[in-house]
Amino acid sequence: MNYSKEVLKHFSKPHNYGKIDNYDGLGRVGNMACGDEMFVYIKVKDNIIKDIKFETFGCVAAIATSSVLTDLAKKKTIEDALKITKQDVVDALGALPPIKIHCSVLAIDALTQAVYDYYIKNKIVIPKDLEERHNQITKRESCHS
Ligand code: FES
Repeated sequence: MNYSKEVLKHFSKPHNYGKIDNYDGLGRVGNMACGDEMFVYIKVKDNIIKDIKFETFGCVAAIATSSVLTDLAKKKTIEDALKITKQDVVDALGALPPIKIHCSVLAIDALTQAVYDYYIKNKIVIPKDLEERHNQITKRESCHS
């Protein structure tokens, strides 16, 4: 597989790798098709993602996309972090082989679920689009073949 220099850099030295023990939100997603699994932990203060870490059990692209996603989301407001697209992730990495684009979706899904978890835990009213994204992710996870 031909990976960009940036992908290999993030894969060999991932940023923000690990766990936050006293996290405010946790997102866990898996891709049943390839077996990859990803956890995203967030710490939130005044609506800002103060800290974010991830653990990914998966392919080179899954690790690189999670790493770059945490860089992009850190210090952003929750609303801005939720606006990060798979294209933003791919652009930050230079490029991703087309067959690996789905890996970048996994990272974004994990962040979305972490925010959802944070909202639920703090009894914050969940915006309609976040609710929809959460439902889509849950559905995707349960019907992967
Ligand atoms: Fe599964 Fe990359 S092959 S996320």
